[in-house]
Formats: sequence, C-alpha cells, structure tokens
Amino acid sequence: MDEVLTAQGLTKSFMAKGKRVEAVRGVDFAIRSGEIFGFLGPNGAGKTTTQRMLTTLLPIESGTATVAGYDVAHQPRQVRQHVGYVRAGPIFGTKSEVCGSRGPPSSSPPTTSTKRTPCATAS
Ligand SMILES: Nc1ncnc2c1ncn2[C@@H]1O[C@H](COP(=O)(O)OP(=O)(O)O)[C@@H](O)[C@H]1O
Ligand SMILES: [Mg+2]
Repeated sequence: MDEVLTAQGLTKSFMAKGKRVEAVRGVDFAIRSGEIFGFLGPNGAGKTTTQRMLTTLLPIESGTATVAGYDVAHQPRQVRQHVGYVRAGPIFGTKSEVCGSRGPPSSSPPTTSTKRTPCATAS
C-alpha cells in the first residue's frame, strides 16, 4: 500500500445560529508513504474540521477517507490505532483534543488502554 491517507469528496456542514455553515466542501487529497504533507489554508478554511473527520473525532458527512488502508467511517477503531493527533491550541488547558497511540497496532483500543492517549474532546 503506497497511500497512507486518502480523502475523496469530503464534506461537512454545521448548523450555527439557525444557519448552515459549509465547513468542508469536497476535499480530495492523498498522502503517500514517506511524504511530508503540509495542510495549509486561511482561518476558517476547514482544516481542523477535515482533520477531525480523518481522525474519527467527527462523523464524515459525505465522501470517503482511508487511513493506513482502513475506511475512516467504517473502521474507526483500526484508524485510531494508526494515527497520532494533537490539535493546535492548549492541550492541558480547559479545551483539549488529543487522539493517538504509542503502542503497536495490535494492542487494545485507545479508550481502554492506560498506555494510550484516549481520543477525546473536552471543553
Ligand atoms: N462545531 C462547529 N459548529 C459550527 N461551525 C463550525 C464548527 N466547527 C467549525 N465551524 C465552522 O466551520 C468553518 C471551518 O472551520 P475550521 O475547520 O475550524 O477551519 P480552520 O481550521 O481551517 O481554521 C468555519 O467557518 C467555522 O466557524
Ligand atoms: Mg483550525
């Protein structure tokens, strides 16, 4: 497998104050093994929302994505075993979102192992 991450037609909308906000509109990309990939864009472009979908922290509205060959929507447990994610902003403050693993893929899922950082959001 050469592509470690793929996204095809990813979309996500939110309802905010009675209005629909189109946060991500048809994002496509692929990252191959060994690549260093910069995911850039202005504030509000949808970078964080895309990353939250790719790390299983937010349900994908439409489109497809794979991580390490696993389908993000249908194989979230396997995906979590292959990603480490620390979002920008305070990690140990009042708002944090951390998802990751340091153990081998075969060990227990992030939510149950003391050796893993749980995939979680807190406000
Ligand atoms: N939970 C949410 N509820 C409502 N709107 C949101 C939410 N998360 C993000 N948005 C909106 O979606 C758009 C993309 O946000 P975001 O993914 O955080 O962009 P970026 O990380 O590129 O700055 C923005 O307009 C933002 O206000
Ligand atoms: Mg962001």
